[in-house]
Amino acid sequence: FHVDWDAAAAEKGGFPSFMAKEIHDQPQAIADTLLGRVDAGGRLQLDEMKISEAELRTVDKIVVIACGTAAYAGQVAKYAVEHWCRIPVEVELAHEFRYRDPVVSERTLVVAISQSGETMDTIMAVRHAREQGAKVLAICNTNGSTIPRESDAVLYTHAGPEIAVASTKAFLAQITACYLLGLFLAQLRGNKFSDEVAQVLEQLHEIPGQVRQVLDGLEQVREIARYMADTRSVLFLGRHVGYPVAMEGALKLKELAYIHAEGFAAGELKHGPIALVEPGQPVFVVVPSPRGRDSLHSKVVSNIQEVRARGARTLVIAEQGDTAVEPYADVVIRVPQTSTLLSPLLAVVPLQVFACELATAKGLDVDQPRNLAKSVTVE
Ligand code: G6P
Repeated sequence: FHVDWDAAAAEKGGFPSFMAKEIHDQPQAIADTLLGRVDAGGRLQLDEMKISEAELRTVDKIVVIACGTAAYAGQVAKYAVEHWCRIPVEVELAHEFRYRDPVVSERTLVVAISQSGETMDTIMAVRHAREQGAKVLAICNTNGSTIPRESDAVLYTHAGPEIAVASTKAFLAQITACYLLGLFLAQLRGNKFSDEVAQVLEQLHEIPGQVRQVLDGLEQVREIARYMADTRSVLFLGRHVGYPVAMEGALKLKELAYIHAEGFAAGELKHGPIALVEPGQPVFVVVPSPRGRDSLHSKVVSNIQEVRARGARTLVIAEQGDTAVEPYADVVIRVPQTSTLLSPLLAVVPLQVFACELATAKGLDVDQPRNLAKSVTVE
């Protein structure tokens, strides 16, 4: 009796690719990143902290440095951290930060986000920041890797090993970790949002179940992706936290399916990108909650109308119950209701699945896209 046993297939847990498995593992990645992080008093427990609370209270600027998907996690975090902490947050690609003369001081907190902890561009930026006297906090998925070792503090994401080259579950874990950090700083600085902080923490704990709901309802997205396998260009629009989500959706499609894709701020549409829209052009639109700031929602709905009027095929990611998008959407992809600031954790999931499924339909290796490396250890 002989059983063929394929170690790689076993590790994929029945999924066709590591990517598919890692997308499916996202609720766990978020739950594990939250687990045991907040004590009974609602205070964040960091893994390793060589920055005192007194020093953190004096922070007057946060600079996030990262590359690729991790940089989009930083862009999402900027909206939340500025709102909760009232500290200005800059997000910069590590390789750009490194080669200019950035204004940082002892009162700057540099947050280095990296799944691998070994990205050379980010390592060099960490060194550059520390040389200028800044404190560096690493948000990292790999225990004991170079970036956490060279930083003043570490908050590990507990996404588990990420094998597929393009990042998915580490991205959601990075956003989660940034949010924990933001809530912690807000508490520490005792600002006026303390009620909101407790509320957000509660909502954050509901996210894993909501991501599961999104994943369970994506058959329609898979079908559309297979049907769109010949597509040559896809645009992604979003506003506020939906903007980095749009850019990450475009990045996934480039990386996995080799399709030209661009993410834009929806408000920028009329300043240029709308010239790209011709009949049949697929446009994904990430719509903010109608329960949030009303003007934001209605502006994005107008953007859907504008591209649709020029013949675009609109694929709209909208909250459950948002009926205002229906007249202008060719396809509505529903996500559960949460607060605007947490919505990227849900809205990005259909975009990941779309890219993965489309690439699979094209017969591509979604785990190891051409020309890309999981960890870029050269500058
Ligand atoms: C490479 C990977 C990306 C990743 C980026 C940053 O380009 O292909 O998926 O987002 O590096 O990697 P890091 O390990 O620093 O998060």
